[in-house]
Amino acid sequence: MVAAQQLNRTTQLLLICSLLSIQAPSLSMSSLVGSQTEDFIDWWQHAVFYQIYPRSFKDSNGDGIGDLQGIISKLPYLAETGITATWLSPIFQSPMVDFGYDISDYKAIQPEYGSMADFEQLVHAASGLGIKIILDFVPNHSSDQHEWFKKSAARDPVYENFYVWEDGKKDKLGVRQPPNNWQSVFYGSAWEWNEQRQQYYLHQFTKEQPDLNYRNPAVVQAMDDVVRFWLDKGVAGFRIDAVNHLYESEDLADEPLSGKTADPLSYDYTKHVFTKDLPEVLTMVQHWRQLLDDYSAKHPDGVTRIMMTEAYADLHVLMDYYESADGVRGSQLPFNFHFITDVNGDSDARDFVYNVEKWLIYMPRGHAANWVMGNHDNPRVASRFGAASVDAMNMLLMTLPGVAVTYNGEELGMEDYREIKWEDTVDPPARNAGKKDYKKVSRDPERTPFQWSNASNAGFSTAAKTWLPVNPNYLALNLAAQQQAAKSHYKVYKALIELRKLPTLRRGRFSIEPQSRAVFALKRTLKDYDTLVTIVNVSAEEQLINLTDFINRPQKLIVEVAGVDSVYTPGQALSSSALTLAPHEGLICKLIAA
Ligand code: GLC
Repeated sequence: MVAAQQLNRTTQLLLICSLLSIQAPSLSMSSLVGSQTEDFIDWWQHAVFYQIYPRSFKDSNGDGIGDLQGIISKLPYLAETGITATWLSPIFQSPMVDFGYDISDYKAIQPEYGSMADFEQLVHAASGLGIKIILDFVPNHSSDQHEWFKKSAARDPVYENFYVWEDGKKDKLGVRQPPNNWQSVFYGSAWEWNEQRQQYYLHQFTKEQPDLNYRNPAVVQAMDDVVRFWLDKGVAGFRIDAVNHLYESEDLADEPLSGKTADPLSYDYTKHVFTKDLPEVLTMVQHWRQLLDDYSAKHPDGVTRIMMTEAYADLHVLMDYYESADGVRGSQLPFNFHFITDVNGDSDARDFVYNVEKWLIYMPRGHAANWVMGNHDNPRVASRFGAASVDAMNMLLMTLPGVAVTYNGEELGMEDYREIKWEDTVDPPARNAGKKDYKKVSRDPERTPFQWSNASNAGFSTAAKTWLPVNPNYLALNLAAQQQAAKSHYKVYKALIELRKLPTLRRGRFSIEPQSRAVFALKRTLKDYDTLVTIVNVSAEEQLINLTDFINRPQKLIVEVAGVDSVYTPGQALSSSALTLAPHEGLICKLIAA
């Protein structure tokens, strides 16, 4: 009853909010910032989502591969760190060609990860610690070992149109050729010939990952069923994989050349106007949103089931995922990858400010911003921005308004292990690139086992060999060492999560400005509470800055969080008119009247 009332209240408030947003004359930086009461913040809107890559998190049975019991054993660690939500890369039955992103049974757990009973235990134990579980939903493609694909290849009438099948064409010499010039994201033609069916099938990723056909309502229904299956197991929502690849144009025209590379087998060879971001994608995202909303409404436990969508796409496309021009809601969290794709170690302060503001400017009102600092597909923070920037990047992530997304290991500043040998390389695009070029594209370096301690295999596993080599830097860089040290990246991270509980960071107003090319500062303010300022020097030189203009008047800065190498300590008073920042230093201060 109480929960139902709460839900009604939330619905009413949401209605008021959307009415207000229609009438509001001016654009606020974020309507989830600055104007709301505490009641308004739903569980996910300010959460830190911690991404677990299960294969590399913790191995409980000594086979060199992470598993569900391993995750269960580390839930207390997540709770102690202050994590309240986690999203797991796929744990479903899979031949592991793309390490779980090739699913052969959407409703079964991969045996090397554990059993369904283990999964149920995981949800239960996580819930006991106040941690919500989000699963990875991989709708674009299944494995070629899935029953559906086998039956489709055999032209079983029920499954005949579950995948995208085409005849192909003959060249001048009468040799069979794929239907068009579409390439796989992972290199090579996106079409593979199937002997049994005597047709080509489409695969936007590896040839073992055939694309499902969303123009067939039976596929949509089958996938809805998968979503409901896991919702019934108690998950709080889904991260939706590669969502913008769901549809392709039906007339199969060649994609126009991009002019970026001369290699016709490279994904960059063409512009993906017929295979990505088709308008039908949005309709499907909205369909899943409706499904989740209906499910939440039928289970009035107060928990909104959410979706986070993975699409590397134009800002306008992503904003439509939040809400279309005609007001239909889609993804709560269209992943914001700008910190991964649009800034790097060479970016200056203006680039950071621009990238933060552009998301907030475009975001429709009534939605929560999100900031993804890392994932299993991209180099780690320490490798993108440099090891000296780890604390500053986490400070930025944690003090921006909205949702923060951390990839496991980033709380320690784990580094890519770029020296993985060709013989140990397993990532499909890296294998496709070959021995000479694999390092340019391999995702193995950011997927190496989590570094728990200085025990063998970094405390990840007791196996003689782990599925990917452990980064040898684990002897110095590991959680146990960072928990013991007086100062560490982990301690900074933990302090940041604690700080995020402050009302000012939950719902304070937000502004950000470059102070120079080297330094930017962001400010969070909330009536009756202390103002917080995050200052970041993105340059490799020491900087002296005057913040009095940004904070309106001369005020004292009291250090709240300082980085590992900082000369400043929490509680120390600093002058706002002459503040020295070390190279790559980040600092969070509260303001008090001078
Ligand atoms: C997503 C995943 C990536 C996977 C691909 C194909 O981009 O994050 O790891 O390889 O989809 O499923």
